[in-house]
Amino acid sequence: MSSLETERLLLRPASSEDASFFTAALADYDISRQLSSVPYPYTEEDADNFIATVTNARAMGEAWVFTVLSKATATPVGCVGLHIKDGRYEIGYWFAKPYWGRGFATEAARRVLAFAFGVVRADAVQAGWFHDNIASGRVLAKLGFTATHVESWPSRARGEKVLCNRTLLTRELFGRKKPLEAPAVRQSESTALAT
Ligand SMILES: CC(C)(COP(=O)(O)OP(=O)(O)OC[C@H]1O[C@@H](n2cnc3c(N)ncnc32)[C@H](O)[C@@H]1OP(=O)(O)O)[C@@H](O)C(=O)NCCC(=O)NCCS
Repeated sequence: MSSLETERLLLRPASSEDASFFTAALADYDISRQLSSVPYPYTEEDADNFIATVTNARAMGEAWVFTVLSKATATPVGCVGLHIKDGRYEIGYWFAKPYWGRGFATEAARRVLAFAFGVVRADAVQAGWFHDNIASGRVLAKLGFTATHVESWPSRARGEKVLCNRTLLTRELFGRKKPLEAPAVRQSESTALAT
């Protein structure tokens, strides 16, 4: 699998050289609590195991996980992954806290979606955001994802199931939608969805 590029970012397949970045970034509970399968606290061994698993899954054509680097600084800033889960494509992402609020998640995820629809030939990609993760709801709205239903999903870091807004983006909608015109996600909508 080759690397992907955007205006500001380089997305390269996650590899063992990223273990220390994963370990440092995922030591932050504000990140792991919004993810499903990331433990807290997060150890170097967790990072090594994750990277080995996704490297194997990539070889099997079951997952494509990218470490995202800022082109300006050549520094790793986050991670975006496309996985096949129960026969369906699922996208997930996280960014280290110093890099929040710069549009990196939207820019990187949009590039991985183009890869999913254009190269992997997915017909649709799913994603979910926990009810208290307004920023991720906003990222998905900007990308053109639409709500499907609400479900309880495990959060390993929290040690409990959390209400999760499930969303879907079809290839057709991805090609058509003007993402920056997506309406803002408001707390009241999130609460309405989650209850
Ligand atoms: C969610 C996350 C990936 C967003 O990354 P990011 O690079 O800051 O995202 P972007 O800058 O592309 O977009 C964030 C959007 O949310 C908005 N936002 C952020 N916090 C918000 C809040 N509390 N209320 C309303 N909007 C908010 C931003 O203004 C921006 O929208 P805009 O472009 O319309 O202004 C990042 O916060 C993160 O890694 N969080 C922890 C892990 C996580 O939640 N992963 C996703 C799991 S589903």
